[in-house]
Amino acid sequence: MTIFVLNGPNLNLLGSREQDVYGAGTLGDLEDLCTNRAQALGHDVDFRQTNYEGELVDWLQEARTSADGVVLNAAAFTHYSIAVRDAIVACERPVIEVHLSNIFGREDFRSHSMISAVCAGVICGLGYRGYQAAIDALASMLASGSSS
Ligand code: DQA
Repeated sequence: MTIFVLNGPNLNLLGSREQDVYGAGTLGDLEDLCTNRAQALGHDVDFRQTNYEGELVDWLQEARTSADGVVLNAAAFTHYSIAVRDAIVACERPVIEVHLSNIFGREDFRSHSMISAVCAGVICGLGYRGYQAAIDALASMLASGSSS
């Protein structure tokens, strides 16, 4: 099965951006971790990052036909994008929302997610481990044919 791992704005700066919040690893390190984890479970990962809302919407639409499930760190779009929320619903695939940081322990505006209610699950505050946990959960959900 194919799992899309989609990353939103500014995550290309991982490793140099706010290391105290997001850690020292790079986006490339994160891609390696996701690819290795999925391969160990017998799945493929298509790992992408964009700074553009419309591109993220396009990729979620692509997931309708090209992915079995999605791990999504929508970054700042999480907090205000109705377009991303609608694309999650439209993709008709299980989507797990992931954040490296604990969005509930930061500024108030980060505590609100436009997308949590339409995702199969939410993981935050676990750093890179959160992506690994999301891949494990998706693999298990896809194997059992359930979306929760
Ligand atoms: C983030 C949290 C968001 O609030 C923020 O805008 C990001 C990254 C995270 O992974 O912790 O860019 O999604």
